[in-house]
Amino acid sequence: MRAQIIGTGAYLPAKVVTNVDLEKIVETTDAWINDRTGIRSRHVAAEGETTSDMCAAAARQACAQAGVKPEDVDLIVVGTVTPDMPLPSCAALVQAKLGARKAFAFDVLAACAGSIYGLAVAEKFVVTGQSKRALVIGAELLTRIVDWQDRNTCVLFGDAAGAMLLGPGDGPSGILSTHLHSDGNYAGILKIPAGGSAQPASAETVAARGHYVKMQGKEVFKFAVRALEDVCREALAANGLSPGDVQHVVMHQANLRILEAVVKRLEIPIERCVINIDRYANTSSASVPITLDEANRSGRLRPGDTVLMAAIGGGIAWGAAVVRW
Ligand SMILES: CC(C)(COP(=O)(O)OP(=O)(O)OC[C@H]1O[C@@H](n2cnc3c(N)ncnc32)[C@H](O)[C@@H]1OP(=O)(O)O)[C@@H](O)C(=O)NCCC(=O)NCCS
Repeated sequence: MRAQIIGTGAYLPAKVVTNVDLEKIVETTDAWINDRTGIRSRHVAAEGETTSDMCAAAARQACAQAGVKPEDVDLIVVGTVTPDMPLPSCAALVQAKLGARKAFAFDVLAACAGSIYGLAVAEKFVVTGQSKRALVIGAELLTRIVDWQDRNTCVLFGDAAGAMLLGPGDGPSGILSTHLHSDGNYAGILKIPAGGSAQPASAETVAARGHYVKMQGKEVFKFAVRALEDVCREALAANGLSPGDVQHVVMHQANLRILEAVVKRLEIPIERCVINIDRYANTSSASVPITLDEANRSGRLRPGDTVLMAAIGGGIAWGAAVVRW
């Protein structure tokens, strides 16, 4: 038996902020952002809008596509580093919003790899028969935790939620395998230092801007290209596939140059890579599911196609999944 992706959904907040808009906030230019990252605009959540609101909207779409009532969902996994609050989990709030009373619900924290981690975990529950309708959601409201005085980071991110609904199936389609990795030795290159038990919130941590994302961009970039190439090769080899067998690459959209470098190393034509970073920027754990949803809804994914999914984020945490559509 395999876990199949039976529905996908996405939610993008209505407000769009362009690079030109950002020129008024920090010392940057549309040309710099576009040249270095491929980003042209990003969506930004409205005041009062929460991560769990976005999750619920994306999840309802995925359920509707599959013809499943939200109350029949029995597992909810949310990948996020921007839950509504530290306690309870974002997934618990999503469960309540969906009225999914049968579900057990929890968050996974793997930053931009959150949805691949969530997919890997939920897949196991489906394959073992413990879950028949599992929602995997990646959602991020990063524009509330980036430092709008730091041009190195604030121009890179956007808000979104994406959802994948899993169910059991015994046909040829489904999740063929998942592959996860972590290296905590690199924890320092992408982190939010304050607000946890090491540096609880205080006037000093706020004054030191310790509650915002801190990133060594170049280090992350180098690590990302190497790790994504390796995990993609590992995932394909585990299924007896070669890069030439892949019809669609659905990779975390962190930087267009990372996507280009990884598919070039794999010798997969860039046309097979689903790209939306220009419109959405880096939406962290939402990135893979909103990209999958876009490819799915546009009719780009055909039954029998091989989809290679991969992501990397703070931790460092990374992973890949091979899906037969
Ligand atoms: C962040 C990133 C876009 C920076 O690109 P880069 O080519 O490595 O650029 P550098 O860090 O070398 O910065 C080059 C210069 O641009 C400047 N710069 C940084 N942000 C800028 C901005 N928004 N506008 C204009 N200039 C900027 C830097 O200050 C630096 O200036 P200096 O040379 O005078 O010091 C790139 O490293 C990246 O995408 N890294 C991965 C980030 C990521 O994906 N994170 C999430 C992982 S899931």
